[in-house]
Amino acid sequence: MRMPRSVREADVAGRTVLVRSDLNVPLENGDVADDTRIRASLPTLRLLLDGGARAVRVCSHLGRPKTDEDRAKYAIAPVERRLHELLPDERLTMLENTRFDPGETQNDERFARELATGCDLYVDDAFGSAHRAHASTVGVAHLLPAYAGLLLLAELEHLGKLLGEVERPFVLISGGAKVDDKLGVLRNLGGRADTVLVGGKMAEQLRVENPLGFEVELPSDVVGAAAFEEDADSGIYPFAGLPDGWLGLDIGPETRERFSHAIAGARTIFWNGPMGVFEWPRFAGGTKAVAEAVAANERAFAVVGGADSVRALNELGLADKVSWVSTGGGPIPGRSPID
Ligand code: 3PG
Ligand code: MG
Repeated sequence: MRMPRSVREADVAGRTVLVRSDLNVPLENGDVADDTRIRASLPTLRLLLDGGARAVRVCSHLGRPKTDEDRAKYAIAPVERRLHELLPDERLTMLENTRFDPGETQNDERFARELATGCDLYVDDAFGSAHRAHASTVGVAHLLPAYAGLLLLAELEHLGKLLGEVERPFVLISGGAKVDDKLGVLRNLGGRADTVLVGGKMAEQLRVENPLGFEVELPSDVVGAAAFEEDADSGIYPFAGLPDGWLGLDIGPETRERFSHAIAGARTIFWNGPMGVFEWPRFAGGTKAVAEAVAANERAFAVVGGADSVRALNELGLADKVSWVSTGGGPIPGRSPID
């Protein structure tokens, strides 16, 4: 993979630098609920400040604001506060939520110029937003000398390994609720894997029809629930044998064992998406089993991405047991079970 020009090559002394980070973090009661993405953005900011930058202006989107009320809900202030707590330096400032300007998502040149005004160079460190052609991610890169930030480069390096020669077996585990987003990941990476394990809502969809062109391993048993509720009546059922109207909210014990066994034998692992509604303790067992199996395999190169899988790892205290925890794929962690 051809890597973009690194921020390490930039001469920043005395310059004003615009940095696009992805600080789209979950909020709770007007405060940052999880600062993983803010912490992950610090190495680039420190590098710029240590390099003698005159000013570092950080910009990010936050949420998907649409209405006027959303402007209060998604104001950048709590993020800015947390950033300053973590990195107190008066040369560091934050711009308001880029999505408050409609020009952002339209990749509008006027807004890109506004962002670039007064800046000498641009650093893109927003890996989680790299798939969006917006004014702050793409537009400004045409107006200022552009460099890639350290997080962006590290993500490309680690995730890029999965696209090259990998040690085998390569086991890919996919789950979660956002089936359409995940299908794209599966399509691109799944064909390179030796074994593809699928749980969660995605498994339901693939049981009906598998458009992928390669085999996947689906659950054989599930934890069924009479309703989508935390305390719903529940029980273990064969994957295809749920009572009418019931929902599969987790993989069952037999599936957990089979998936864990496959993960234990892997030399390369990519895990994206929980196996069930793990925010609810009664439906968390499958995701925990996968997290534990991934963490226990010390010989594998293991990459975990996606808000919920990362949250599961964090909650189990296992994040430092895997090779790379990606900041891509949704604010980490969401508080609503199906957000
Ligand atoms: C994310 O959390 O998915 C990224 O920050 C991108 O946000 P978006 O999906 O709202 O563009
Ligand atoms: Mg997203």
